[in-house]
Amino acid sequence: MYSAKVMDHFANPRNVGEIENADGVGEVGNPKCGDIMKMFLKIDNNVITDVKFKTFGCGAAIATSSIATEMIKGKTIDEALKLTNKAVVEALDGLPPVKLHCSVLAEQAVKAALADYYRRQGVDPEPIVGKLE
Ligand code: FES
Repeated sequence: MYSAKVMDHFANPRNVGEIENADGVGEVGNPKCGDIMKMFLKIDNNVITDVKFKTFGCGAAIATSSIATEMIKGKTIDEALKLTNKAVVEALDGLPPVKLHCSVLAEQAVKAALADYYRRQGVDPEPIVGKLE
């Protein structure tokens, strides 16, 4: 049912934890399953220099948040904003259809953290990050 990559990121999630004095923190949840994802970003000169996450959720939610952190670490904000849930699913070699919403949560967690970053700079995030559910 799950790819080897999903199992790997579930069993050995990368970048778990919190960042003290993070530049952006985003928390999102799915009201249907009750899962919650929290993403912490350290941003320097428009580059995401560090990222950590905490996920209270299913195995796929842990795997998608883990790989999402790998996909944005060291990238510019612009590149991170282009991260789609589809790219997350592809990087994991697929997810079962009932678990696709877990990858949406990962994309939203990254965007929520970036929105928080902009808010802290006194910038309205909506035109840049888009509307978050
Ligand atoms: Fe809801 Fe996975 S079941 S995030």
